[in-house]
Amino acid sequence: MDQKPQRRESRMWRIELTRFDEFARGGDDVRMVRTDDAVQLGALFFTAFKGTTDDLQQTEADYRAKANALFEGLYGDCILAASSVVERDGELLSACVVTGYEPYDCPLIAIEATRPSMQGNGIARRLVKASLRNLVIAGHSACRAMITVGNGPSERLFERCGFVPRDIAPPGCGQ
Ligand SMILES: CC(C)(COP(=O)(O)OP(=O)(O)OC[C@H]1O[C@@H](n2cnc3c(N)ncnc32)[C@H](O)[C@@H]1OP(=O)(O)O)[C@@H](O)C(=O)NCCC(=O)NCCS
Repeated sequence: MDQKPQRRESRMWRIELTRFDEFARGGDDVRMVRTDDAVQLGALFFTAFKGTTDDLQQTEADYRAKANALFEGLYGDCILAASSVVERDGELLSACVVTGYEPYDCPLIAIEATRPSMQGNGIARRLVKASLRNLVIAGHSACRAMITVGNGPSERLFERCGFVPRDIAPPGCGQ
């Protein structure tokens, strides 16, 4: 019988933005996410998550649907002002999308993904910090991220950005 991998536990991570004093700008290749990025975002998410702990054999179409769902508010209103991409020569290399998921008391980094060939260059760190900076500017005092337990690169990324691990939470990131 065809069995899809089971989703693993996720952990909530949080940063208090009152302590966030690194007002880093993203850089010249960073721009705000646009809703017409959905197709490119689907392709980016598909390649980034393939083979990771979050890979539940989703197709590129599944990830395109996820990108559309992010814009349509399925994970809370998309906070475009704090969501950004790195784009070079018309190609998306990395993306960070932030939402205002209603049950939480603060915004959530719903997804962060970097094209595999570009990973390890500090791009995700730049985007997450740019998001935090824009959240501070918009008056938010905290931010959350939900990370699958054992997703080492993601845990390392958010730890390096100042997030601290909190409770085990329902599945979310990469879903
Ligand atoms: C997690 C992810 C976004 C990191 O992207 P990235 O652009 O490579 O990250 P950065 O280069 O900015 O690295 C940030 C930190 O994480 C560390 N890191 C990144 N990839 C790593 C890896 N494979 N193993 C260990 N550490 C890693 C970096 O060394 C860096 O830490 P440092 O400052 O101490 O050196 C990327 O691996 C990815 O797209 N993964 C698949 C999607 C995913 O799981 N997203 C997260 C959940 S939404």
